[in-house]
Amino acid sequence: MHDTLLLFGATGDLAQRYLFPSLLHLLRDRLLPGAFRIVAIGRSEHDDAGFKDWLRDRLGDVEARDSAALDDLLARTRYLSLDLNDVDGMAAALSQYADRPSVSYLSTPPDLFEPACRGLKAAGLLEAPSRLVLEKPIGRDLASARAINATLRSALDESRIFRIDHYLGKAPVQNLLALRFGNTLMEAVWQHRWIASVDIIVAETAGVDGREGYYANYGALRDMVQNHMLQLLALIAMEAPSELCADCIRDEKTKVLRALRPMTAADVATDSVRGRYGNGVVDGEAVNGFTHDSDVETFVALRAYIDNWRWAGVPFRLVTGKRMPSRTTEVVVSFKPVSHWVFERPDRAHARPNRLRMRLQPEETIELGLMGSLAAPEWGATELQPMSLDLSMSSTPARRIAYERLLVDALKGDQTLFVRDDEVEAAWRWIDSVSSAWQAAATPVHDYPAGSWGPAAASDFLPVTLSTNGHRRHGAKPAGK
Ligand code: BG6
Repeated sequence: MHDTLLLFGATGDLAQRYLFPSLLHLLRDRLLPGAFRIVAIGRSEHDDAGFKDWLRDRLGDVEARDSAALDDLLARTRYLSLDLNDVDGMAAALSQYADRPSVSYLSTPPDLFEPACRGLKAAGLLEAPSRLVLEKPIGRDLASARAINATLRSALDESRIFRIDHYLGKAPVQNLLALRFGNTLMEAVWQHRWIASVDIIVAETAGVDGREGYYANYGALRDMVQNHMLQLLALIAMEAPSELCADCIRDEKTKVLRALRPMTAADVATDSVRGRYGNGVVDGEAVNGFTHDSDVETFVALRAYIDNWRWAGVPFRLVTGKRMPSRTTEVVVSFKPVSHWVFERPDRAHARPNRLRMRLQPEETIELGLMGSLAAPEWGATELQPMSLDLSMSSTPARRIAYERLLVDALKGDQTLFVRDDEVEAAWRWIDSVSSAWQAAATPVHDYPAGSWGPAAASDFLPVTLSTNGHRRHGAKPAGK
Protein backbone atom coordinates (compact mmCIF):
# COMPACT_ATOMS: atom_id res chain seq x y z
CA MET A 1 0.00 0.00 0.00
CA HIS A 2 1.40 3.44 -0.92
CA ASP A 3 1.77 5.69 2.09
CA THR A 4 1.92 9.23 0.67
CA LEU A 5 -1.26 11.02 -0.38
CA LEU A 6 -1.01 14.36 -2.14
CA LEU A 7 -4.44 15.89 -1.97
CA PHE A 8 -5.06 18.74 -4.42
CA GLY A 9 -8.13 20.83 -3.70
CA ALA A 10 -7.64 20.30 0.03
CA THR A 11 -9.73 23.32 1.02
CA GLY A 12 -12.54 22.45 -1.41
CA ASP A 13 -16.02 21.24 -0.59
CA LEU A 14 -15.39 17.58 -1.43
CA ALA A 15 -12.27 17.41 0.72
CA GLN A 16 -14.08 18.94 3.68
CA ARG A 17 -17.25 16.92 3.38
CA TYR A 18 -15.92 13.54 2.38
CA LEU A 19 -12.19 13.12 1.89
CA PHE A 20 -10.86 14.27 5.25
CA PRO A 21 -13.70 12.57 7.17
CA SER A 22 -12.92 9.36 5.25
CA LEU A 23 -9.23 9.63 6.09
CA LEU A 24 -10.15 10.23 9.69
CA HIS A 25 -12.23 7.03 9.81
CA LEU A 26 -9.52 5.03 8.07
CA LEU A 27 -6.91 6.20 10.56
CA ARG A 28 -9.25 5.47 13.46
CA ASP A 29 -9.81 1.95 12.16
CA ARG A 30 -6.09 1.46 11.49
CA LEU A 31 -6.65 0.78 7.81
CA LEU A 32 -3.79 2.98 6.62
CA PRO A 33 -0.05 2.22 6.71
CA GLY A 34 1.93 3.24 9.79
CA ALA A 35 3.98 5.81 7.88
CA PHE A 36 0.95 7.32 6.13
CA ARG A 37 1.33 11.03 5.39
CA ILE A 38 -0.89 13.61 3.69
CA VAL A 39 0.31 16.58 1.71
CA ALA A 40 -2.69 18.87 1.51
CA ILE A 41 -2.48 21.31 -1.38
CA GLY A 42 -4.76 24.26 -1.98
CA ARG A 43 -4.86 27.75 -3.34
CA SER A 44 -5.81 29.34 0.00
CA GLU A 45 -2.99 31.27 1.59
CA HIS A 46 -3.01 29.32 4.87
CA ASP A 47 0.24 28.43 6.53
CA ASP A 48 0.47 24.90 7.89
CA ALA A 49 -0.83 25.79 11.36
CA GLY A 50 -3.60 27.98 9.92
CA PHE A 51 -4.78 25.13 7.68
CA LYS A 52 -4.86 22.72 10.58
CA ASP A 53 -6.94 25.12 12.67
CA TRP A 54 -9.28 25.53 9.74
CA LEU A 55 -9.54 21.76 9.22
CA ARG A 56 -10.05 21.05 12.91
CA ASP A 57 -12.84 23.57 12.84
CA ARG A 58 -14.45 21.93 9.79
CA LEU A 59 -14.20 18.47 11.27
CA GLY A 60 -15.15 19.81 14.67
CA ASP A 61 -18.30 17.76 15.07
CA VAL A 62 -16.45 14.43 15.04
CA GLU A 63 -17.62 12.08 17.69
CA ALA A 64 -15.59 11.76 20.87
CA ARG A 65 -14.35 8.33 19.81
CA ASP A 66 -12.78 9.96 16.75
CA SER A 67 -10.98 12.79 18.50
CA ALA A 68 -7.69 10.87 18.86
CA ALA A 69 -7.91 10.04 15.16
CA LEU A 70 -8.38 13.74 14.40
CA ASP A 71 -5.16 14.57 16.26
CA ASP A 72 -3.45 11.78 14.38
CA LEU A 73 -4.81 13.04 11.03
CA LEU A 74 -3.58 16.58 11.71
CA ALA A 75 -0.18 15.34 12.84
CA ARG A 76 0.25 13.43 9.56
CA THR A 77 -0.86 16.37 7.39
CA ARG A 78 1.23 19.15 5.95
CA TYR A 79 -0.36 22.03 4.04
CA LEU A 80 1.13 23.72 0.99
CA SER A 81 -0.37 26.67 -0.81
CA LEU A 82 0.49 26.19 -4.49
CA ASP A 83 -0.39 27.67 -7.83
CA LEU A 84 -0.92 24.65 -10.07
CA ASN A 85 -0.10 26.68 -13.15
CA ASP A 86 3.42 27.26 -11.86
CA VAL A 87 5.25 24.10 -12.93
CA ASP A 88 8.62 25.13 -11.49
CA GLY A 89 7.06 26.16 -8.18
CA MET A 90 5.27 22.81 -7.97
CA ALA A 91 8.40 20.87 -8.80
CA ALA A 92 10.39 22.74 -6.17
CA ALA A 93 7.77 22.31 -3.45
CA LEU A 94 6.82 18.70 -4.16
CA SER A 95 9.95 16.87 -5.32
CA GLN A 96 10.86 16.04 -1.70
CA TYR A 97 7.80 13.71 -1.64
CA ALA A 98 9.08 11.65 -4.55
CA ASP A 99 11.16 9.64 -2.08
CA ARG A 100 8.31 7.12 -1.68
CA PRO A 101 5.57 5.86 -4.03
CA SER A 102 2.63 8.24 -3.80
CA VAL A 103 -0.96 8.77 -4.81
CA SER A 104 -1.82 12.25 -6.12
CA TYR A 105 -5.52 12.98 -5.86
CA LEU A 106 -6.82 15.80 -8.07
CA SER A 107 -9.99 17.04 -6.43
CA THR A 108 -9.88 20.09 -8.68
CA PRO A 109 -11.80 21.43 -11.68
CA PRO A 110 -10.80 19.55 -14.86
CA ASP A 111 -9.05 22.57 -16.40
CA LEU A 112 -6.35 22.06 -13.76
CA PHE A 113 -5.70 18.40 -14.65
CA GLU A 114 -3.24 19.31 -17.37
CA PRO A 115 -1.11 21.84 -15.46
CA ALA A 116 -1.22 19.64 -12.35
CA CYS A 117 0.10 16.69 -14.36
CA ARG A 118 2.94 18.80 -15.71
CA GLY A 119 3.91 19.95 -12.21
CA LEU A 120 3.65 16.44 -10.79
CA LYS A 121 5.74 15.03 -13.59
CA ALA A 122 8.40 17.69 -13.10
CA ALA A 123 8.46 16.83 -9.39
CA GLY A 124 8.98 13.13 -10.22
CA LEU A 125 5.63 12.20 -8.67
CA LEU A 126 4.20 10.40 -11.68
CA GLU A 127 7.01 7.87 -12.01
CA ALA A 128 5.92 4.24 -11.58
CA PRO A 129 4.60 2.98 -9.24
CA SER A 130 3.03 6.32 -8.20
CA ARG A 131 -0.61 6.82 -9.07
CA LEU A 132 -3.05 9.56 -10.01
CA VAL A 133 -6.66 9.82 -8.84
CA LEU A 134 -9.13 12.14 -10.58
CA GLU A 135 -12.51 13.44 -9.60
CA LYS A 136 -15.32 13.92 -12.06
CA PRO A 137 -16.18 15.60 -14.31
CA ILE A 138 -13.90 13.92 -16.80
CA GLY A 139 -14.87 16.31 -19.55
CA ARG A 140 -18.14 17.86 -20.61
CA ASP A 141 -18.58 15.82 -23.76
CA LEU A 142 -16.77 13.12 -25.72
CA ALA A 143 -14.27 15.51 -27.30
CA SER A 144 -13.20 17.08 -24.01
CA ALA A 145 -13.08 13.68 -22.26
CA ARG A 146 -10.81 12.40 -25.03
CA ALA A 147 -8.56 15.43 -24.62
CA ILE A 148 -8.30 14.82 -20.86
CA ASN A 149 -7.58 11.13 -21.39
CA ALA A 150 -4.88 11.97 -23.94
CA THR A 151 -3.26 14.38 -21.46
CA LEU A 152 -3.33 11.75 -18.75
CA ARG A 153 -1.92 9.07 -21.02
CA SER A 154 0.97 11.31 -21.96
CA ALA A 155 1.79 11.68 -18.25
CA LEU A 156 1.38 8.08 -17.02
CA ASP A 157 0.06 4.66 -17.91
CA GLU A 158 -3.67 3.85 -17.70
CA SER A 159 -2.85 1.14 -15.15
CA ARG A 160 -1.90 3.93 -12.71
CA ILE A 161 -4.86 6.26 -13.44
CA PHE A 162 -7.85 6.06 -11.07
CA ARG A 163 -10.98 7.91 -12.21
CA ILE A 164 -13.46 8.20 -9.38
CA ASP A 165 -17.16 7.58 -9.61
CA HIS A 166 -18.08 7.62 -5.96
CA TYR A 167 -21.20 5.50 -6.58
CA LEU A 168 -18.87 2.56 -7.17
CA GLY A 169 -17.56 2.98 -3.63
CA LYS A 170 -21.03 2.50 -2.13
CA ALA A 171 -21.48 -0.95 -0.62
CA PRO A 172 -25.05 -1.44 -1.94
CA VAL A 173 -23.83 -0.70 -5.46
CA GLN A 174 -21.17 -3.39 -5.13
CA ASN A 175 -23.91 -5.66 -3.85
CA LEU A 176 -25.51 -5.50 -7.31
CA LEU A 177 -22.61 -7.59 -8.57
CA ALA A 178 -22.86 -9.96 -5.63
CA LEU A 179 -26.57 -10.47 -6.19
CA ARG A 180 -26.23 -11.00 -9.89
CA PHE A 181 -23.22 -13.23 -10.04
CA GLY A 182 -23.49 -15.01 -6.71
CA ASN A 183 -26.93 -16.45 -7.48
CA THR A 184 -28.06 -18.83 -10.18
CA LEU A 185 -31.62 -17.77 -9.58
CA MET A 186 -31.10 -14.17 -10.66
CA GLU A 187 -28.91 -14.85 -13.60
CA ALA A 188 -31.31 -17.36 -15.13
CA VAL A 189 -34.03 -14.77 -15.61
CA TRP A 190 -31.80 -11.75 -16.19
CA GLN A 191 -32.65 -11.06 -19.84
CA HIS A 192 -35.23 -9.77 -22.29
CA ARG A 193 -37.21 -12.98 -22.35
CA TRP A 194 -38.27 -12.53 -18.72
CA ILE A 195 -37.66 -8.86 -17.96
CA ALA A 196 -40.12 -6.23 -19.17
CA SER A 197 -38.29 -3.10 -18.00
CA VAL A 198 -35.67 -1.75 -15.64
CA ASP A 199 -36.01 1.48 -13.67
CA ILE A 200 -33.10 3.34 -12.17
CA ILE A 201 -33.99 6.36 -10.12
CA VAL A 202 -31.68 8.69 -8.21
CA ALA A 203 -33.81 11.32 -6.50
CA GLU A 204 -32.29 13.98 -4.27
CA THR A 205 -33.87 16.47 -1.94
CA ALA A 206 -30.80 18.70 -2.22
CA GLY A 207 -30.71 21.51 -4.74
CA VAL A 208 -27.76 22.97 -6.59
CA ASP A 209 -27.14 25.74 -4.09
CA GLY A 210 -23.56 26.89 -3.96
CA ARG A 211 -22.71 25.12 -7.23
CA GLU A 212 -24.81 27.17 -9.65
CA GLY A 213 -21.86 28.03 -11.90
CA TYR A 214 -20.73 24.44 -12.38
CA TYR A 215 -24.25 23.13 -12.65
CA ALA A 216 -25.38 25.65 -15.24
CA ASN A 217 -22.67 24.30 -17.50
CA TYR A 218 -23.51 20.64 -16.90
CA GLY A 219 -27.10 19.96 -15.87
CA ALA A 220 -28.47 16.68 -14.59
CA LEU A 221 -27.62 14.77 -17.77
CA ARG A 222 -23.91 15.43 -17.46
CA ASP A 223 -23.73 15.69 -13.67
CA MET A 224 -25.57 12.47 -12.81
CA VAL A 225 -26.48 10.36 -15.83
CA GLN A 226 -23.11 10.29 -17.60
CA ASN A 227 -21.44 8.80 -14.56
CA HIS A 228 -23.44 7.46 -11.61
CA MET A 229 -26.55 6.34 -13.48
CA LEU A 230 -24.75 4.80 -16.42
CA GLN A 231 -22.48 2.99 -13.98
CA LEU A 232 -25.55 1.53 -12.27
CA LEU A 233 -26.99 0.60 -15.65
CA ALA A 234 -23.74 -1.06 -16.69
CA LEU A 235 -23.55 -3.12 -13.49
CA ILE A 236 -27.13 -4.26 -13.94
CA ALA A 237 -26.77 -5.09 -17.61
CA MET A 238 -23.22 -6.43 -17.98
CA GLU A 239 -22.30 -10.01 -18.76
CA ALA A 240 -20.61 -12.05 -16.06
CA PRO A 241 -16.87 -11.40 -15.99
CA SER A 242 -14.69 -14.48 -16.22
CA GLU A 243 -13.04 -13.42 -12.97
CA LEU A 244 -13.19 -10.47 -10.62
CA CYS A 245 -10.20 -8.66 -12.04
CA ALA A 246 -10.46 -4.90 -12.61
CA ASP A 247 -10.25 -5.07 -16.38
CA CYS A 248 -12.50 -8.14 -16.57
CA ILE A 249 -15.29 -6.10 -14.99
CA ARG A 250 -14.48 -2.90 -16.83
CA ASP A 251 -14.41 -4.72 -20.18
CA GLU A 252 -17.94 -5.98 -19.58
CA LYS A 253 -19.25 -2.60 -18.43
CA THR A 254 -17.73 -0.90 -21.46
CA LYS A 255 -19.45 -3.36 -23.81
CA VAL A 256 -22.81 -2.42 -22.32
CA LEU A 257 -22.13 1.31 -22.64
CA ARG A 258 -21.08 0.83 -26.24
CA ALA A 259 -24.31 -1.03 -26.97
CA LEU A 260 -26.52 1.84 -25.78
CA ARG A 261 -28.67 2.88 -28.71
CA PRO A 262 -27.86 6.51 -29.60
CA MET A 263 -30.79 8.82 -29.01
CA THR A 264 -32.03 10.67 -32.10
CA ALA A 265 -34.08 13.82 -32.52
CA ALA A 266 -37.01 11.57 -33.48
CA ASP A 267 -36.79 9.73 -30.12
CA VAL A 268 -36.53 12.57 -27.66
CA ALA A 269 -40.18 13.52 -27.54
CA THR A 270 -41.15 10.04 -26.33
CA ASP A 271 -37.94 8.93 -24.66
CA SER A 272 -36.89 11.95 -22.63
CA VAL A 273 -38.19 14.69 -20.37
CA ARG A 274 -36.20 17.61 -19.02
CA GLY A 275 -37.22 19.67 -16.03
CA ARG A 276 -36.01 22.43 -13.78
CA TYR A 277 -37.21 23.07 -10.26
CA GLY A 278 -38.91 26.29 -9.30
CA ASN A 279 -39.82 27.56 -5.85
CA GLY A 280 -41.41 25.02 -3.58
CA VAL A 281 -41.26 23.18 -0.30
CA VAL A 282 -38.85 20.35 0.50
CA ASP A 283 -38.83 18.61 3.88
CA GLY A 284 -41.21 21.25 5.20
CA GLU A 285 -38.93 24.13 4.22
CA ALA A 286 -39.57 26.73 1.54
CA VAL A 287 -36.77 26.69 -1.04
CA ASN A 288 -36.00 28.85 -4.04
CA GLY A 289 -36.04 27.63 -7.59
CA PHE A 290 -32.99 27.31 -9.81
CA THR A 291 -33.05 30.49 -11.79
CA HIS A 292 -29.80 30.54 -13.71
CA ASP A 293 -30.41 31.90 -17.16
CA SER A 294 -28.93 28.91 -19.01
CA ASP A 295 -31.46 26.34 -20.24
CA VAL A 296 -29.99 23.60 -18.10
CA GLU A 297 -32.09 20.82 -16.53
CA THR A 298 -32.13 19.78 -12.87
CA PHE A 299 -34.32 16.78 -13.68
CA VAL A 300 -34.04 14.30 -16.49
CA ALA A 301 -35.99 11.21 -17.44
CA LEU A 302 -34.72 8.98 -20.23
CA ARG A 303 -35.71 5.73 -21.84
CA ALA A 304 -32.58 3.92 -22.96
CA TYR A 305 -32.17 0.72 -24.95
CA ILE A 306 -29.22 -1.62 -24.98
CA ASP A 307 -28.93 -3.13 -28.40
CA ASN A 308 -27.52 -6.56 -27.65
CA TRP A 309 -28.72 -10.15 -27.44
CA ARG A 310 -29.57 -10.06 -23.73
CA TRP A 311 -31.45 -6.77 -23.57
CA ALA A 312 -33.09 -6.39 -26.98
CA GLY A 313 -36.25 -4.30 -26.62
CA VAL A 314 -36.07 -3.84 -22.83
CA PRO A 315 -36.50 -0.19 -21.82
CA PHE A 316 -34.20 1.11 -19.11
CA ARG A 317 -35.88 4.15 -17.59
CA LEU A 318 -33.38 6.50 -15.98
CA VAL A 319 -34.72 9.26 -13.77
CA THR A 320 -32.76 11.71 -11.68
CA GLY A 321 -33.70 15.02 -10.18
CA LYS A 322 -32.86 17.58 -7.56
CA ARG A 323 -35.37 18.93 -5.04
CA MET A 324 -37.52 15.81 -5.13
CA PRO A 325 -39.80 14.96 -2.20
CA SER A 326 -37.43 12.31 -0.82
CA ARG A 327 -33.92 11.02 -1.25
CA THR A 328 -34.19 7.70 -3.00
CA THR A 329 -31.83 5.64 -5.09
CA GLU A 330 -33.56 2.60 -6.38
CA VAL A 331 -33.32 -0.05 -9.08
CA VAL A 332 -36.55 -1.81 -10.00
CA VAL A 333 -36.54 -4.80 -12.30
CA SER A 334 -40.05 -5.58 -13.58
CA PHE A 335 -40.63 -9.04 -14.97
CA LYS A 336 -42.99 -10.00 -17.76
CA PRO A 337 -46.47 -11.29 -16.88
CA VAL A 338 -46.83 -15.08 -16.55
CA SER A 339 -47.33 -16.67 -19.95
CA HIS A 340 -50.69 -18.32 -19.18
CA TRP A 341 -52.93 -17.15 -16.35
CA VAL A 342 -55.27 -19.73 -14.83
CA PHE A 343 -56.72 -17.90 -11.83
CA GLU A 344 -60.04 -16.16 -11.65
CA ARG A 345 -59.25 -13.81 -8.81
CA PRO A 346 -57.66 -11.57 -9.65
CA ASP A 347 -58.18 -11.89 -13.37
CA ARG A 348 -55.23 -11.66 -15.69
CA ALA A 349 -55.55 -7.92 -16.08
CA HIS A 350 -55.16 -7.39 -12.36
CA ALA A 351 -52.35 -9.83 -11.68
CA ARG A 352 -49.19 -8.05 -10.67
CA PRO A 353 -46.04 -9.18 -12.48
CA ASN A 354 -43.03 -10.02 -10.35
CA ARG A 355 -40.80 -7.19 -9.44
CA LEU A 356 -37.37 -7.02 -7.83
CA ARG A 357 -36.82 -3.76 -6.02
CA MET A 358 -33.34 -2.89 -4.82
CA ARG A 359 -33.16 0.22 -2.78
CA LEU A 360 -29.64 1.53 -2.46
CA GLN A 361 -30.17 4.80 -0.56
CA PRO A 362 -30.91 6.05 2.02
CA GLU A 363 -31.41 2.56 3.45
CA GLU A 364 -30.52 -0.70 1.74
CA THR A 365 -33.40 -3.07 1.14
CA ILE A 366 -34.16 -5.77 -1.38
CA GLU A 367 -37.70 -6.89 -2.00
CA LEU A 368 -39.15 -9.42 -4.40
CA GLY A 369 -42.80 -8.92 -5.34
CA LEU A 370 -44.63 -12.20 -5.94
CA MET A 371 -48.23 -13.34 -6.27
CA GLY A 372 -49.43 -15.91 -3.74
CA SER A 373 -52.39 -17.32 -1.96
CA LEU A 374 -51.85 -18.20 1.65
CA ALA A 375 -55.46 -18.97 2.51
CA ALA A 376 -58.38 -19.43 0.17
CA PRO A 377 -61.21 -17.30 1.55
CA GLU A 378 -63.91 -19.78 0.59
CA TRP A 379 -63.99 -23.34 -0.72
CA GLY A 380 -63.70 -23.54 -4.46
CA ALA A 381 -62.10 -20.16 -4.94
CA THR A 382 -58.47 -19.26 -5.07
CA GLU A 383 -57.65 -15.67 -4.55
CA LEU A 384 -54.15 -14.49 -5.28
CA GLN A 385 -52.58 -11.52 -3.65
CA PRO A 386 -49.38 -9.62 -4.12
CA MET A 387 -46.83 -10.62 -1.51
CA SER A 388 -43.49 -9.23 -0.82
CA LEU A 389 -40.44 -11.28 0.01
CA ASP A 390 -37.96 -9.25 2.00
CA LEU A 391 -34.46 -10.23 0.97
CA SER A 392 -32.70 -7.52 2.94
CA MET A 393 -29.79 -8.62 5.05
CA SER A 394 -30.78 -8.85 8.68
CA SER A 395 -27.69 -6.99 9.77
CA THR A 396 -25.48 -4.89 7.60
CA PRO A 397 -22.17 -3.52 8.81
CA ALA A 398 -22.13 0.19 9.64
CA ARG A 399 -22.19 2.16 6.43
CA ARG A 400 -18.87 3.68 5.41
CA ILE A 401 -18.43 6.80 3.32
CA ALA A 402 -17.98 5.66 -0.29
CA TYR A 403 -14.65 7.48 -0.42
CA GLU A 404 -13.18 5.35 2.37
CA ARG A 405 -13.22 2.28 0.17
CA LEU A 406 -12.03 4.22 -2.87
CA LEU A 407 -9.11 5.81 -1.02
CA VAL A 408 -7.96 2.44 0.29
CA ASP A 409 -8.25 0.86 -3.15
CA ALA A 410 -6.28 3.68 -4.77
CA LEU A 411 -3.55 3.36 -2.14
CA LYS A 412 -3.51 -0.40 -2.70
CA GLY A 413 -3.62 -0.06 -6.48
CA ASP A 414 -6.89 -1.92 -7.11
CA GLN A 415 -8.67 -0.35 -10.10
CA THR A 416 -11.85 -2.44 -9.98
CA LEU A 417 -14.02 0.39 -8.65
CA PHE A 418 -12.50 3.06 -10.89
CA VAL A 419 -13.57 4.03 -14.36
CA ARG A 420 -11.33 3.29 -17.35
CA ASP A 421 -10.66 5.70 -20.25
CA ASP A 422 -12.67 3.78 -22.85
CA GLU A 423 -15.55 3.38 -20.41
CA VAL A 424 -15.76 7.14 -19.78
CA GLU A 425 -15.65 7.77 -23.50
CA ALA A 426 -18.37 5.21 -24.28
CA ALA A 427 -20.60 6.87 -21.68
CA TRP A 428 -19.97 10.31 -23.16
CA ARG A 429 -20.72 9.06 -26.67
CA TRP A 430 -24.24 8.18 -25.58
CA ILE A 431 -24.68 11.37 -23.54
CA ASP A 432 -23.59 13.40 -26.57
CA SER A 433 -26.28 11.67 -28.63
CA VAL A 434 -28.88 12.75 -26.09
CA SER A 435 -27.71 16.35 -25.86
CA SER A 436 -27.44 16.76 -29.65
CA ALA A 437 -30.88 15.20 -30.07
CA TRP A 438 -32.25 17.67 -27.51
CA GLN A 439 -30.66 20.49 -29.43
CA ALA A 440 -31.92 19.32 -32.80
CA ALA A 441 -35.45 18.82 -31.47
CA ALA A 442 -35.36 21.98 -29.31
CA THR A 443 -36.50 19.85 -26.35
CA PRO A 444 -38.13 22.11 -23.77
CA VAL A 445 -37.16 22.24 -20.10
CA HIS A 446 -40.41 21.99 -18.10
CA ASP A 447 -40.79 23.67 -14.75
CA TYR A 448 -41.65 21.62 -11.68
CA PRO A 449 -42.17 22.83 -8.16
CA ALA A 450 -39.38 21.95 -5.74
CA GLY A 451 -40.66 19.09 -3.59
CA SER A 452 -42.51 17.34 -6.44
CA TRP A 453 -41.55 14.30 -8.53
CA GLY A 454 -40.62 16.39 -11.55
CA PRO A 455 -42.65 17.67 -14.47
CA ALA A 456 -46.04 16.03 -15.10
CA ALA A 457 -44.72 14.96 -18.51
CA ALA A 458 -42.33 12.59 -16.72
CA SER A 459 -44.91 10.66 -14.73
CA ASP A 460 -44.72 7.74 -17.16
CA PHE A 461 -41.04 7.36 -16.34
CA LEU A 462 -41.35 7.04 -12.58
CA PRO A 463 -41.07 3.57 -11.04
CA VAL A 464 -44.36 2.13 -9.80
CA THR A 465 -42.72 1.47 -6.47
CA LEU A 466 -42.42 5.15 -5.74
CA SER A 467 -44.95 6.74 -3.48
CA THR A 468 -45.75 9.71 -5.67
CA ASN A 469 -48.72 11.25 -3.89
CA GLY A 470 -51.17 11.11 -6.69
CA HIS A 471 -48.82 11.43 -9.63
CA ARG A 472 -49.78 9.09 -12.44
CA ARG A 473 -47.09 6.53 -13.06
CA HIS A 474 -46.21 4.13 -15.82
CA GLY A 475 -47.11 0.50 -15.47
CA ALA A 476 -49.58 -0.23 -18.20
CA LYS A 477 -47.06 0.35 -20.95
CA PRO A 478 -46.07 -2.47 -23.27
CA ALA A 479 -42.50 -3.68 -22.92
CA GLY A 480 -41.23 -2.50 -26.30
CA LYS A 481 -40.82 1.00 -27.51
C1 BG6 B 1 -22.31 14.16 -7.34
C2 BG6 B 1 -23.07 15.21 -8.08
O1 BG6 B 1 -21.44 13.47 -8.19
O2 BG6 B 1 -23.22 13.25 -6.74
C3 BG6 B 1 -24.04 15.93 -7.17
O3 BG6 B 1 -22.16 16.16 -8.64
C4 BG6 B 1 -24.93 14.93 -6.45
O4 BG6 B 1 -24.84 16.86 -7.90
C5 BG6 B 1 -24.11 13.82 -5.81
O5 BG6 B 1 -25.66 15.64 -5.46
C6 BG6 B 1 -25.01 12.72 -5.27
O6 BG6 B 1 -24.25 11.81 -4.53
P1 BG6 B 1 -24.89 10.99 -3.31
O7 BG6 B 1 -23.77 10.13 -2.85
O8 BG6 B 1 -25.34 12.02 -2.31
O9 BG6 B 1 -26.04 10.22 -3.86
